[in-house]
Parts: sequence; structure tokens; C-alpha cells
Amino acid sequence: MTDQLTPNAIGRDVARADGPLKVLGAAPYAYDQPLTDPLYLCTVDATVVRGRVAGVDASAALAMDGVELVLTHENAPELSTEDGELRVLQSPEVHFRGQVVAAVVATTTEVAAAAAGAVVVTYDTEPFAVTAGSDPAGLHAPEKVNAGYPTDTDDGDLDAAVAAAAFTVDEEYTTARTHNNPLEPHTTVATWTGGDLHVFEASQSVFGARRVLAGVFGLDPERVRVTCPYVGGGFGSKGSPHAGAVVTVMAARMLPGRSVKFALTRRQMFRLVGYRPRMTQRVRLAAAPDGTLTGVGVDVVQESARIKEYAEQTAVAARMMYAAPNRRTSHRLALLDIPVPTWMRAPGEAPGMFALETAIDELAARVGIDPIALRVRNEPERDPATGKPFSSRHLVDCLHEGADRFGWYDRDPRPRSRRVNGWLVGYGVAASTYPAYRMPANSAVVRYTADDRYRVEIGASDLGTGAWTALAQIAADALGVPQDSIDLAIGDTRLPRATVAGGSSGTASWGTAIVEAARAFRDKFGRTPEPDDEVFADAPENTAAKDFALHGYGAQFAEVRVHEDTGEIRVPRLYGMFDAGRVINPRTARSQLVGGMTMGLSMALHEDSVMDTALGHTANPDLGEYHIAANADVHEIRADWLGIPDERLNPMGSKGIGEIGITGTAAAIANAAHHATGVRVRELPITLDKFL
Ligand code: MOS
Repeated sequence: MTDQLTPNAIGRDVARADGPLKVLGAAPYAYDQPLTDPLYLCTVDATVVRGRVAGVDASAALAMDGVELVLTHENAPELSTEDGELRVLQSPEVHFRGQVVAAVVATTTEVAAAAAGAVVVTYDTEPFAVTAGSDPAGLHAPEKVNAGYPTDTDDGDLDAAVAAAAFTVDEEYTTARTHNNPLEPHTTVATWTGGDLHVFEASQSVFGARRVLAGVFGLDPERVRVTCPYVGGGFGSKGSPHAGAVVTVMAARMLPGRSVKFALTRRQMFRLVGYRPRMTQRVRLAAAPDGTLTGVGVDVVQESARIKEYAEQTAVAARMMYAAPNRRTSHRLALLDIPVPTWMRAPGEAPGMFALETAIDELAARVGIDPIALRVRNEPERDPATGKPFSSRHLVDCLHEGADRFGWYDRDPRPRSRRVNGWLVGYGVAASTYPAYRMPANSAVVRYTADDRYRVEIGASDLGTGAWTALAQIAADALGVPQDSIDLAIGDTRLPRATVAGGSSGTASWGTAIVEAARAFRDKFGRTPEPDDEVFADAPENTAAKDFALHGYGAQFAEVRVHEDTGEIRVPRLYGMFDAGRVINPRTARSQLVGGMTMGLSMALHEDSVMDTALGHTANPDLGEYHIAANADVHEIRADWLGIPDERLNPMGSKGIGEIGITGTAAAIANAAHHATGVRVRELPITLDKFL
């Protein structure tokens, strides 16, 4: 523990501070604001894939009692953005099926929905392309991929390494389109008063939402306030506002002084808030006779929207996971007439580690060595991607310790070697990784109120993951006071600036600002402050990122059963051992890691947004047909951690834990399925037909 922190609250298994409020219904989510005479918005969504709105007849809607406004491209205010996703109602063009082409505002949700249904929209249509194979324009190379990584890399000579290798893998791996489905759909409540805008927005970043909305509406950010103290999940889709927020703010602008509310339906969640795009990865591995890697190559082809480029950083994990002198990666996009994709839990690493870690398992089988031994043999001394030393890297410890606790070496490594009552049983392993980000531009205020109480302010967001709790623990240790002396304030742009609850960076970024403010407070006022003594501090720069490669690691183990006759697949056991630095709160941390692994299981076995190529939209846009792992699908899932702090990363010594749990899970399950059956599944989800 650094000298800035007194270990007391950090590391304690504390129940969620916001738990009782949520259970009582007393935690106000964005949509839950008590407002005077609010109005309700309902959108009219395009029923064609590509073309133009030829006409809108709103007369029947406008004649209905309670209808205040029908918004179309003909009367919509002009927006100051070039963002193809956010340019709502700026032209008659239709770019994907389900795009917002009009909106109705009325005094009740029922009237709004009925009136939206009464708006008659006619279209001129054009031919469209909605799958990568149908893209007539060919592939597009993005300038960068998500999070600012280079699109392509080329070190050494991969082709020569493959040609000279004793063992190779050259396979294609496909991951499905999957949709973020937080329990709370996206909601916006907007009110204009004079020239000032106040928005309650279901968001992972109130400051990010303010920046985007201020930009779209051409406002000084100081005149925009965004509030969101509680969030019902997001998985990345609430990282930045989408079309629904823009149309709601737009409608409110035309109804000054009135509050306009909009909540997306579950079906709209499948077209208006982003998703993980479908992609195919060609993975090439080259190895010496003993399994030492001489080459690693990953070429990604990903679907994206024609109106806004989104490129996942799918191959970046392959750049740093294993030592190999010859490495080549590339990312290409098929730009299609489909909704705009976005971040979904571990964008890049989640699909990337499915492909890489399945390929590594295939290589181990070809070389004839244990897949853990193969990984250990190829452990790099330094980060192959940057040449920097790792700040800390305990992957090998995760593999060894995890293998012991899972009982890995109980297995007969031959495929199809174990049967129990008609079920083929297999074990699989895969590595996990995720960058340990810490964002700049975070600040905090510490104020002594009275009676040994401290108010700690930062405009952070709690996705439901535990920030309300973990930040209070960090503040308590930084001030050297009990946790129940802390009154935390988050989720409002009136508080000090804070970065997104995303990239698994929240706790590290906000916690660093809080520790800095607490230190400054103690320096200035000592241990006997007066009421209203207050300090504002900016988080120091993340200098470690210049000199070190910063990542978290893990090893995941799966036991899989595949029915010999039907091909049904079950996962009775998942075990993860993580290198997650110092854990702030074991309860919320375990929930994050187990939650990520559960989502990884869901990605492996269930989730698949099926493209209807005739109609050009998702054929299964609801929770009845888009299956997310439910209780009956999840048996024993356990997550543990090594607990080795990395104090270069931040004063807490913690690594992010929100996303690493979903990385590698699908590969561990696919690898276990191969061990059970001898069948190698390279296309997610792993459904029963793939074993027959
Ligand atoms: Mo996460 S996909 O960075 O919310």
C-alpha cells in the first residue's frame, strides 16, 4: 500500500452502498425524475433499409387529443454535427431499417405510441447490402481502430515464418453480431429553460454526454447539465449518446419549458444503441518443433455501418500476448446499410481472444503439448507490441494457479476420451487479457462538512457495478477515516469532471483523483478541519503509460458436456483466475468478473443477432428469441484473483475488472468442446448442429 493510503476500507467485502435504495425503488434512474406535466416521445422508425422518405402524412396523428408535436425532417431544428449516427432528421435519406424518420410528442405514452402509429411515411427505396459478402464496395481500411490503435502492424516476415514452420495453424474464426441488452433500456429526459438544457440521460459518462450533446446542438457546454446518478447497466452502449437522446433533446427544444421523456423499447435496443458487429478473423500461427512461436498473424474483416465508421481493436491482443519475431495484423471493414455498431464489453479483446486462444489450442494439439505449457513457452519478456517492459504481468501464475484449483491435470488430453451417461466431457483453457487504462482529465473535491463527515464529489458514473461503494472505500482510506464518514456525490456535470465508466478505467481514473484530493486536503487542513474546508484537485498524469505496457491477465478453465446423440452443449463449470492488481472490494469485484464470464458463456453458446437478409434487419430483436444466458444455463462459475498490487498504475494498485472476465471465456468453452468431442467449432455461437 502506498503511503497515501491507510489500508482499512480497501479490500473489505462491503455490500453495495446503493443496494438498499435500489431494492426500495428509491434510487432515481434517469427516467424516474419527478417532473411537472412531462411529455412523452415515441419515434417512427424506417420500414425500409435504404432510400428516401418520399412523404410524411402526420394529419391523423396531429388530430389526436394530447399530441403536442410531430417532428420530421421537414420541421426538425438544424444540428451542428457531421456524425452520421447523430444527424437525426436532417435529411429524408434512410440508411438502415429502424432509423428514426419521425417522432411524436404527446401527454401520455399511450397517446404518443398511438399517434406514432398513425403517422404515414412513404419511401423511395434503393438496393441495399447488409452482410459482408453482399458488400459491393469492397473492404475499407480505417485510419485507426477503436481506442486509437494502429489499423495494421507488420513486424518481421510472417509469410516466411509460416513457410518455414514445423507446425502451423491457418484458420478462420467468426463471431456473431451481438447486442448490448442492459436491464435498463436507454432513456433520456430533456428540458430547455431559456437557452439552458438539462438532460437526465442513462449514461456511462455524464461529461461525455454533455460534450456530445453540446456539440450536436451547438451550445457552450456550460449551458448543458447532464445528470445520471444511477444506471441499470450499459456494457458500452451507454458510453456515448445515440439517436434517441438527440431526438428527445430536439423535441424538447421545440417545446421550451416542457420536459420530454423517451425510453427505448427492447426492440429499439436492437437498432438504435449500437452492438458488437459480426466479424471473421483469419489467424495464422507458425511454430518450431517444440511449440515456440515464430509467427502470429491476425487479419480481421468486420461489418460496420456506411454512415459512421466503427472499427473494433480486434487484433490488438494478438499483438501483445505471445513472443514471436514475425507478427502481422490488419483490420478491414465492410461498410453496410446496417445500424451503427459500438462498444460492447471488451470490444476487440472479446472477439479477438476467442480467435487467438482457440488457435493457440489448435496449435498445442498439433505440436502435441499441453496448452498451458505452450502458453508458458511463449511468454514474452517485454511487450511485443511496444517493446516496453510490462508494468506487471502474472499470466503464467494465473495459468498454473488456476490449473491447480480447477483440477486441469485430471484430464486425459486425448479428445473424446471421457463419457458420462451419454455426455462427452471435456476441459478447456484460454488466457484472458485487457489493458489497464487510466484516463487523464479527472478531478475531485473533498469537503469537510461537520461531525467527522466528508463530502467527496466527482462526476463519475456507477453502471450498477459498484462505483458508489468502491469510491467511498478509496476516499475513506485516502482520508484515513471510516467508510461511513464519506458522503459521495457522483453522476452530475455540476460535480468535478470525470471520464467514462468504460474501458474498465473508471475506478482507476476516478480513484486517483479522489486520492489526490484527499492528500491535498490533509496537507492543507490536517486532521482537525473546520466545517466547509474544501480542496479541489486534478488527478496527476499517468506517467507509467509512457514507460510500461499496462495490462491485466487471467486464465479461464471450462468443463463442457456435449450430448453424444443430440449435440446439446452444457457448461457445468467455469473457473477464472485473474491478475487484477489490488482488489478494492471483493464482493463487487467478484460480481464483475463472474458477470463478465457469464457474458462470455452467453457469447459462446447463445447470443446471435440473426440478420434477415431479405428484410435487412435483425430477425430476433427481443429477449424471447435473442437468448442471453439465464440461470438454467449457468452452473458453477467461480472467479479468484492473485491479489498482487501494481502501484505503478494508480495509487490503489488496482487493475480494471469490468471487461477482462469476458475475454477468453468463449475460447475456453470452444476448446473444452473440442476436447469433449474432437470437433473444432470456429464460429460462434456454439450450437448443437455444429457437433452433428
Ligand atoms: Mo465498456 S464496452 O468500455 O463500457
